[in-house]
Amino acid sequence: MVDVSNLMRVSELESAYDEVSTSYDSIYMKPKDIKQDKMVMKDIIASYTYKELWQNMLQSMSWQSFESGAMLNPFGKILDAGCGTGLLLERLPVISPLQYRGVDLSGGMLRQAREKFPEYTFIHQDIREYYRTVDEARHMDPLGFHLYDSFISIFASMSFIPLEDCAEIVGGLVQTDGFVYIMFFGPKVTPRDLVYESADVPFCTADEVQRKFIEPLQEIRHYEGDGPIGRLYGLKGLEWCKPDEGDYIVFKSRMRDCKDVSE
Ligand SMILES: C[S@@+](CC[C@H](N)C(=O)[O-])C[C@H]1O[C@@H](n2cnc3c(N)ncnc32)[C@H](O)[C@@H]1O
Repeated sequence: MVDVSNLMRVSELESAYDEVSTSYDSIYMKPKDIKQDKMVMKDIIASYTYKELWQNMLQSMSWQSFESGAMLNPFGKILDAGCGTGLLLERLPVISPLQYRGVDLSGGMLRQAREKFPEYTFIHQDIREYYRTVDEARHMDPLGFHLYDSFISIFASMSFIPLEDCAEIVGGLVQTDGFVYIMFFGPKVTPRDLVYESADVPFCTADEVQRKFIEPLQEIRHYEGDGPIGRLYGLKGLEWCKPDEGDYIVFKSRMRDCKDVSE
């Protein structure tokens, strides 16, 4: 069960990011950083095959996705978890305001994001609280409109929460066939920002990601929740890549179709 009780640590992390927020973008303008950003974006885009692109568009043709603009491009409805100052939007300008939602713990980081992208939706919340709110309201959404087609978290925002929580959040928020792309801090990471040096961030090994994140997600489970409709989920294909010699552990996969699971 996702626990949000360690609020002291959370508020420290929030203040730390608030403090760094105004200089955050300028810190990462070195050619090396830009090159790395580009590699990540290329990697995300390359994860969608042409076939998937069309499938995604067809599958997302519900009234709600139509309304939210989610069928505008292959990413569908995107959750940018730990969006910070909006790097994903900056580097992937094809994302429309209608299909995007960014969640971040730091009001300061979000202020920068909102200034740059005033027409996009940003939510100031711990991702675990956001998930809990959505989960509690699940019974009012039996058709699963709260689910996302893409869960993207770049440059290790999810490394600040326990891997087990991350598995539950992904399992609860991602659509069948939905795409998941998460960068975790790897053991050899070189600091991308000054905050985590002091924030006691648990760097993880590939083995830990496997045990605490992938296995719970792969273990196909009936997601009871409080709502009338349970969910089955599992993983469909799994790919690892290490964009910068092991700095980050990158997880990418799609959530498996319920029908595949019951066969
Ligand atoms: C290293 S920055 C990455 C920001 C952005 N994704 C990027 O690539 O520039 C980490 C971000 O994660 C956010 N964060 C950390 N823990 C979080 C949590 N539990 N819920 C939501 N955001 C969180 C921080 O506030 C910070 O903006």
